[in-house]
Amino acid sequence: MLSQTRRGFVLSGSAAILAACATRTGRLARNPFTLGVASGEPSADGFVLWTRLAPDPLAGGGMPETPVEVSWAVAEDEGFRRVVREGKALATPDWAHSVHVELKGLEPDRWYFYRFRLPEAESPIGRARTTPAAGAGDKLRVVFASCQRWEVGYYGAWRHAAKADPDLILHLGDYIYEYQLRGAQNYIRTHDADATFTLADYRNRYALYKLEPELQAAHAACPWVVTWDDHEVVNDYANDRPERQNPGQRFLDRRAAAYKAYYEHMPLRAAQRPTGPDLQLYRTVDYGGLARFHVLDDRQYRSHQVCKRPDRDGGSNTVGRECADRLNTDLTLLGREQEAWLARQLTGSTAAWNVLAQQTLIATADWGGGRFWTDGWDGYPAARQRLVDVLGSGRVRNPVVIGGDVHTFYAADIHARAGDPSSPIVAPEFIGSSITSLGLPQRQIDQLRPHNPHIKLARSDIRGFALVEMDRRRTAVSMQTVDNALQRDSGISTLARYVVEERNPRMLTA
Ligand SMILES: [Fe+2]
Repeated sequence: MLSQTRRGFVLSGSAAILAACATRTGRLARNPFTLGVASGEPSADGFVLWTRLAPDPLAGGGMPETPVEVSWAVAEDEGFRRVVREGKALATPDWAHSVHVELKGLEPDRWYFYRFRLPEAESPIGRARTTPAAGAGDKLRVVFASCQRWEVGYYGAWRHAAKADPDLILHLGDYIYEYQLRGAQNYIRTHDADATFTLADYRNRYALYKLEPELQAAHAACPWVVTWDDHEVVNDYANDRPERQNPGQRFLDRRAAAYKAYYEHMPLRAAQRPTGPDLQLYRTVDYGGLARFHVLDDRQYRSHQVCKRPDRDGGSNTVGRECADRLNTDLTLLGREQEAWLARQLTGSTAAWNVLAQQTLIATADWGGGRFWTDGWDGYPAARQRLVDVLGSGRVRNPVVIGGDVHTFYAADIHARAGDPSSPIVAPEFIGSSITSLGLPQRQIDQLRPHNPHIKLARSDIRGFALVEMDRRRTAVSMQTVDNALQRDSGISTLARYVVEERNPRMLTA
């Protein structure tokens, strides 16, 4: 009741508030749209529009501690002569003056243009599109990418991704990195703060990344569907356990701050608004009848990694047969609830393609002599088997797995039994390297190859993204690599191209 009253006051008094805001900031002397615009979560009749008012983006945003009303408009043309929707949204200080508008009632399978306005400023124009209607849709271009450590490169890959004219961009995690690179590492610039702990820290970190013009261009180019990995909170965290416990701090408080900042900076629906340390991120996005994207969260609900290193509180390790716990069938990567939900979504889908948009390599990667990395699916083999059993059950139409996390271009066959290449292939898997983040040395990755014949491509020494072109009959995946991630104007080339035909999970080199 109280909030209702306050909201009523705020709405009716918004003109006065804007006037006050203008006075205090010198009529918003600086542009508040420094972080660009974005759209996301496309459906057949709408999408989410996003922006955040931040005239002083690296120092908390620079907005007054009052709500501000922002106008938005959606048009059929870039000149905004045919406006089809307009309205006002309230940017409030408790959500960092972010704006999330959920649009409904638009036409299916159409491009639209959108922008935000204050009396004294106008945002850049973004482009978004609705999906085909239920059951419809013949063609789709998707970019997927992940891992964009700001310190080790520029976002030339995003410029090329935007130019590739995608209908949809999937970000598979590590949108930010929480800690600072130090020492003799290959970085070109450093984060301003050592590591992010508080809400203010995480907000400033998102702002730092979002100031990059190439990233803003990619957000403005088409709707995004996002999920996270570990670095949106802290390296290799599992559920309620970080790699290293900060003394005196409750990890779930840090997770709550990180999740809140994530929501504030992503074009997500109100259904993804966090409550404390909880944020429901796993969901499906249907692209008509052509594709269903199963967007997974492999961090929030997972069992702790087994056989941790003795010098750490949690996190990953590489272990061999001595680690019997790895085979414990109670281990879960997605959490039992998400796991059951995923099985229902996969088997209930009538889409021509079922894309698992998740974080890390599902195909096994034996580092030699039965040694496995515990942070990925190899650390949860029983859970992987349950998922692979669903994918191979004959009840899932054309599954395709995509991922990020490992800063390596991988193309791999997922077999019915991990490590048994004589067992049937149940799905193809593609991992899109990283926008900038550095991979393991290539010579180390090369050592994987003899032990893992199902891995067709493994390149950790180059950066980029993947472009997926889908129609009803086939899915083609092109691995796109920048010539040099240390140059903003880097060129791009195609490293490899694979084709998957319907009803045949064995990928072909194109
Ligand atoms: Fe990463």
